[in-house]
Amino acid sequence: MSISIKTPDEIEGMRIAGRLGAEVLDYITPFVKPGVTTGELDRLCHEYMVQVQGTVPAPLNYAPPGYPPFPKAVCTSVNDVICHGIPGDKVLKAGDSVNIDVTVITKDGFHGDNSRMFLLGEPTIQARRLAEVTYECMWLGISKVKPGAHLGDIGHVIQQHAEKNGYSVVREFCGHGIGKVFHEEPQVLHYGRPGTGEELKAGMIFTIEPMINAGRREIREMPDGWTIKTKDRSLSAQWEHMILVTETGYEVLTTSAGTPPPPAIVLNKDAVPA
Ligand code: MF3
Ligand code: CO
Ligand code: CO
Repeated sequence: MSISIKTPDEIEGMRIAGRLGAEVLDYITPFVKPGVTTGELDRLCHEYMVQVQGTVPAPLNYAPPGYPPFPKAVCTSVNDVICHGIPGDKVLKAGDSVNIDVTVITKDGFHGDNSRMFLLGEPTIQARRLAEVTYECMWLGISKVKPGAHLGDIGHVIQQHAEKNGYSVVREFCGHGIGKVFHEEPQVLHYGRPGTGEELKAGMIFTIEPMINAGRREIREMPDGWTIKTKDRSLSAQWEHMILVTETGYEVLTTSAGTPPPPAIVLNKDAVPA
């Protein structure tokens, strides 16, 4: 077993998939407002994928060993839901924070997997800060990606930043290799030690998708077989990008007109003070 190195044709297919995945999040953004149901957001995303893009949602009927088929097109994870929330009748209200996780499959069979946080109305300072720090965690991880680096470098910087801010890192779920297969090697842990784990090589493609809890890291699985919540009912946040290892560093594949810019903590990391 080993981590696949994508061919130039596969990389081109994954660029297209990544852009389309990101464009679904752009499309849904204006609809994420108080009063909308998560089921309506799912219906709109699904319709956009199939009718406008000609893609199909990877989550729909996705059933890894031990899981029932996922019944919807996207995941909507609200407040203390860590991941894999199933869209339904839940009405979003001011102050909620929701992660929408979209994975498209293109007509050529490539997966575009990404997620963003949405804060509704006037979010609490705590919700805003958790989403912000989680975004920084994802980007600090991304900034470590280059040939010769190790997966543990990514996990380490994410864990450091989360814990320094008083937060905890979910251990049960991780980033993953991706291509024509939704989830493949490697597992990209969001915690770890520098210099450990697989060495990165140009042509690898994987996601970085830290799930960060405001409270303790322990999880609770809901009886629907999918929804994961924080055990202590604290808020949880997540962001996800799909990353290509290039000869010199990284390329973010899940990029569109509406992609939020990298945070200052990454842009200014190597800046020399005046
Ligand atoms: N998109 C999720 C990920 O980042 C996986 C969701 S699986 C589903 O890996 F079936 F819940 F949609
Ligand atoms: Co995802
Ligand atoms: Co993913």
